[in-house]
Amino acid sequence: MHTTVGIIGGGPSGLLLARLLHNAGIDSVVLESRDRAYVEQRQRAGILEQATVDVLRDAGAGERLDREGMPHDGIELRYGRRAHRVDFPALTGGRRVWVYAQTEVVKDLVALQLADGGPLLFEAEVHGVEGADTDRPVIRYTHEGREQTLTCDYVVGCDGFHGVARNAVPEGVRTTYERTYPYSWLGILADAPPVYEELIYAHSERGFALASMRSESVSRLYLQVPNGTDPADWPDERIWDELDARFALDANPEWRLKRGTVTSKAVLPMRSHVTEPMRYGRVFLAGDAAHIVPPTGAKGLNLAAADVIVLARAFAHLKDTGSADLLDAYSDTCLRRVWRAEHFSYFMTTTLHADPEQSPFETKLQLSQLDRVATSEHAAAELAENYTGLPLGPANG
Ligand code: DHB
Repeated sequence: MHTTVGIIGGGPSGLLLARLLHNAGIDSVVLESRDRAYVEQRQRAGILEQATVDVLRDAGAGERLDREGMPHDGIELRYGRRAHRVDFPALTGGRRVWVYAQTEVVKDLVALQLADGGPLLFEAEVHGVEGADTDRPVIRYTHEGREQTLTCDYVVGCDGFHGVARNAVPEGVRTTYERTYPYSWLGILADAPPVYEELIYAHSERGFALASMRSESVSRLYLQVPNGTDPADWPDERIWDELDARFALDANPEWRLKRGTVTSKAVLPMRSHVTEPMRYGRVFLAGDAAHIVPPTGAKGLNLAAADVIVLARAFAHLKDTGSADLLDAYSDTCLRRVWRAEHFSYFMTTTLHADPEQSPFETKLQLSQLDRVATSEHAAAELAENYTGLPLGPANG
């Protein structure tokens, strides 16, 4: 089999890339190692930036998002047992975000791809990419028990942090930058109404907590927990009690969360990681295959979307003009945005979490920083711009 763009990974970045290429008249094949049910059910983040929503709509994937997605015009920060709102449109010239789960984006893109896109193979396990520095890179994979090869003009690795595509960039060429964090998140889904009409990011002496949502009747909630935590040590009542304690406000001491059935419970590690460059020869890396952010601030999915938007424009430019200039600029273009998001995610994470080694001095610095956001329009605008995402320029991303 031969294709113009071989895409490794059928998560949101691989599927969005396939859709954007299809709309530009460029053929592709998507190879996904898992089965369809797994891909459509794995729980991930739930916040889409303005620019991500704009592109999904333009790509013809915005219909259910417009019906079921929930636009949000701000977030609430809680610290020192007080609440402060950050108003996104007022601070950013009208930008906002949407609550629409990554798994829903994936379902919409899978349906489109199967309806009228190029091949999307599930349970196609990729072993490696050969000839990255030739003009005919080859993907080796196993599908339906048979070893196969896909010959491509270009290969894009959208296969996540544990994927194989990154190995196509030789060790001597690759530089990785990494940071781990001394805490994790315990994330739950619960059949309970949202805690509040907007998301709440809470700093407390007991650690960080985040209240998000999936619908009018389903909450998505996160608690900072120590690394190595076993979810079994967190029976439902313990989770609700801890959420009550971390979201507590002096102004309303009787307030409690509305509890409901916990339908999923998992511990998520926190890590920052960047691999540079994001391209070697004819192999391009996108999304988690090239970079990871800790989840605080919900940048991961949006950053992955930004990568493939830049890449799809570059492939369309090549097709229309014969110029590879935008493809050649891909890594530098993306890495500017990646490092901005790395900094913002690090900032949100380290400002809101309680490091077990943290001194009282450092706690005071966190509270001062949060107070700055609450009292300075400039500091609030900096947070709001990063949270709603930098606009994607018409050609340079
Ligand atoms: C969600 C996840 C995040 O990491 C975040 O910052 C906000 C919301 C979510 O899953 O809804």
